[in-house]
Amino acid sequence: MQFPKLTPLQSRLAATLAASALLVLLFFSLTSPQFAYAAELDPRIPPDHNHPIALDFCGTMMEMKEEEERVALDWEPHESSIRKDLVRRAPSGVFALSNNDPQSMDIGAGLTQNWVFPKEVIAGPPGVIGSGLPSEDITEDETAQTRSELRKRQEIKTVHITLNTCMQPALNTLAYPADIGGGSPPQLQLWVSQSSSLTNPGPGTRDNPNQQNFDFDGGFAMFEVDTAEDVYVGVSAPNTTSWTGTWNYEIAASIDAPFHTIDDNWANLFFVDGDNHAVLLVTNDTTQRNSTSEIYNQWMTIAPPYGVFAHNQNDSTILGVQSSFCGLKNQAQIMANIQGANRPNVAGMVNRGLGGKPKEQFYITDLNVSSAYYGFLAMEGNSTASGAGVVGGGGKVWRAMNFRTKAESNCALLYNLTFCSEVAYAVPSNPDIFDPSTGVPALAARYDSHAASLYQNFNYSLQQVPCKTSSVQQYSLARTCDDCARAYKTWLCAVTIPRCEDFSSTKSYLMPRNTAAEFVNGSSLSNLTDLYNPANITTWQSRVASNSSRNPIIDSDIRPGPYKEVLPCEDLCYDLMQSCPASLGFGCPLEGRGLDVSYGKRGGDNGEITCSYLGAAHYLSGGGRVVTGLKVGVFMFVFWSVVLGL
Ligand SMILES: *[C@@H]1O[C@H](CO)[C@@H](O)[C@H](O)[C@H]1NC(C)=O
Ligand SMILES: *[C@@H]1O[C@H](CO)[C@@H](O)[C@H](O)[C@H]1NC(C)=O
Ligand SMILES: *[C@@H]1O[C@H](CO)[C@@H](O)[C@H](O)[C@H]1NC(C)=O
Ligand SMILES: *[C@@H]1O[C@H](CO)[C@@H](O)[C@H](O)[C@H]1NC(C)=O
Ligand SMILES: *[C@@H]1O[C@H](CO)[C@@H](O)[C@H](O)[C@H]1NC(C)=O
Ligand SMILES: *[C@@H]1O[C@H](CO)[C@@H](O)[C@H](O)[C@H]1NC(C)=O
Ligand SMILES: *[C@@H]1O[C@H](CO)[C@@H](O)[C@H](O)[C@H]1NC(C)=O
Ligand SMILES: *[C@@H]1O[C@H](CO)[C@@H](O)[C@H](O)[C@H]1NC(C)=O
Ligand SMILES: *[C@@H]1O[C@H](CO)[C@@H](O)[C@H](O)[C@H]1NC(C)=O
Ligand SMILES: *[C@@H]1O[C@H](CO)[C@@H](O)[C@H](O)[C@H]1NC(C)=O
Ligand SMILES: *[C@@H]1O[C@H](CO)[C@@H](O)[C@H](O)[C@H]1NC(C)=O
Ligand SMILES: *[C@@H]1O[C@H](CO)[C@@H](O)[C@H](O)[C@H]1NC(C)=O
Repeated sequence: MQFPKLTPLQSRLAATLAASALLVLLFFSLTSPQFAYAAELDPRIPPDHNHPIALDFCGTMMEMKEEEERVALDWEPHESSIRKDLVRRAPSGVFALSNNDPQSMDIGAGLTQNWVFPKEVIAGPPGVIGSGLPSEDITEDETAQTRSELRKRQEIKTVHITLNTCMQPALNTLAYPADIGGGSPPQLQLWVSQSSSLTNPGPGTRDNPNQQNFDFDGGFAMFEVDTAEDVYVGVSAPNTTSWTGTWNYEIAASIDAPFHTIDDNWANLFFVDGDNHAVLLVTNDTTQRNSTSEIYNQWMTIAPPYGVFAHNQNDSTILGVQSSFCGLKNQAQIMANIQGANRPNVAGMVNRGLGGKPKEQFYITDLNVSSAYYGFLAMEGNSTASGAGVVGGGGKVWRAMNFRTKAESNCALLYNLTFCSEVAYAVPSNPDIFDPSTGVPALAARYDSHAASLYQNFNYSLQQVPCKTSSVQQYSLARTCDDCARAYKTWLCAVTIPRCEDFSSTKSYLMPRNTAAEFVNGSSLSNLTDLYNPANITTWQSRVASNSSRNPIIDSDIRPGPYKEVLPCEDLCYDLMQSCPASLGFGCPLEGRGLDVSYGKRGGDNGEITCSYLGAAHYLSGGGRVVTGLKVGVFMFVFWSVVLGL
């Protein structure tokens, strides 16, 4: 099919006219359904899809419901004179796509719908690419240069066609489990032709050498090609009787960048810690620049650009759309920092943790106890704008990661403390005293003010010490009072605010604490001989290290009952010893003489957090600074026994 040559202005006008024509057409076809072929849906399928689909032609939103949704869109082009305009632009039954303008469509099982990305649009003006996120990677000059090079090559441009599955059919109650394969509906299929002799690619022309076929994967499909010619696209829904209802997908074509994107190489999202209803997740560092750089400061002041979807792993409705932004937005149980999310899930930029680099943090609540979740990092549109007219406006989804909530109610997730600002993990709590929904700030203040008051005492001592005379220090000749103060604060926060785990957890590196006390529900360990070995219970209850907490205010004021502690990393203690003047008398316990009940060792490379250090996140722990080669024997094991709980 040959298109008349148009100037960019004309082709814009034509596109507008065509789109208006489409709108009118659609109206006709809806108000007089005899003009349209009804979709040949399975007669057993009840008209249950009560979600209106929105077609956004020329900025006009149209809602179609119920029966109207069933209208197949491949009508005949002879009914109306307006349609001639459409026919001139696109072959019969084929919709034209414009640049960065997503179209949403329902499709029933066994049907095929066709689209074209016309060469006029490919030759037309590019979209406006925004400034992007703070980064040194791509400079304006490079982008402009690449553009003009492309222009020289006779308007050959890279065409990106991307599709997202937004809704899927539900399992037919009559279907046998064996019919349903992997537990999710079958994926849509994408067919592409660049030949004007095949304008309706699809399963019907399966053997035609001019067409290529791609399966959607996780609700996502993409086709990219360098061309100046029309690109014809078919979207087909597989034949199935096991699934009831229709699919809904979004299709977009662009000469600028893929409208929808995925990153399935890595999740870029890490689990920090959680309690029985909330978790803290962080992204990887968004820049490696240091705090004096412009990019660092841009990141720290930017509105948090990323969002998170989370979904219970026991619920399979997420399967099949896990790589689709609109699919996740429709299906995911939990959304944070995504438009339309009305949950109290907080996102913010933080520079906590190893290296102190900027990262985005998500506090996700309303989770179920003892449950495993998928977490997806996502970006809505280009992070500041989304939808039609925005380059990359369809959003981006990263690969799923996993996290789990805790089983017991006596660990509470804390973050955003004033003094111990690096604390972000679960701490021993008592839900009867500190209500999980309202009492967490009071709990945080209780721990934080205790640490701050201990620090105050230290601060006075430090001022009495001529700590710049570093020759008195045995292991460091170049440490200052500031180093000592920093090491002390890090150590103090880690030991006075213990990291809490479920008592029922059986991980070997965990230390049982406060076992002489009653559980929050009033039962005592001695009553749980069916769960725990009676000999173990006796041992735990007869040792100070395990029958109480390391910090007495926990047992007296917070009363969490028995819990397990992720011990602070031993290197925190060594760092303190190294960094502070010997005259302050800090010492660490010896191996076999209290070290094992006070401090833990960093884990291997599997990312498990086997000891507590500030800023720890699962699968990020490898980067820790571990002080090695220290002989601790020469140090006395001194005071702070109150803090150490020994
Ligand atoms: C579904 O089956 C019909 C009839 O067998 C066939 O014409 C159609 O191409 C099939 N659709 C797909 C997507 O395979
Ligand atoms: C997102 O797109 C809008 C509209 O094109 C643009 O103004 C904005 O700068 C873009 N944002 C980013 C972060 O690139
Ligand atoms: C985090 O990003 C850096 C680059 O900025 C990369 O080198 C590192 O591998 C990433 N970390 C993880 C755990 O993926
Ligand atoms: C930060 O980086 C700049 C150059 O990127 C360097 O000159 C400066 O010394 C660095 N500052 C610190 C504190 O590392
Ligand atoms: C929590 O569990 C209930 C019951 O099993 C379930 O219906 C609900 O979807 C779950 N919610 C989340 C966020 O996991
Ligand atoms: C979730 O699935 C696991 C196993 O996959 C099962 O043990 C558990 O009971 C399920 N939880 C719920 C709430 O259905
Ligand atoms: C952190 O605490 C400060 C007050 O100390 C408060 O203003 C801020 O909103 C808190 N941030 C979050 C994310 O809770
Ligand atoms: C420690 O004492 C010095 C001098 O009084 C004071 O400037 C500093 O703010 C104190 N630090 C803390 C954390 O209280
Ligand atoms: C009390 O709580 C403990 C720890 O969570 C649990 O093991 C025990 O079964 C509970 N007892 C009752 C009677 O609910
Ligand atoms: C636990 O056992 C003690 C006796 O060892 C008994 O007095 C108490 O009532 C029991 N508590 C519960 C909750 O069963
Ligand atoms: C608990 O009892 C088991 C035997 O059931 C034993 O192997 C284990 O070492 C005991 N743990 C402790 C901490 O005493
Ligand atoms: C903890 O154990 C010590 C040493 O056996 C004992 O003196 C103390 O009374 C115990 N504490 C409690 C609360 O049972």
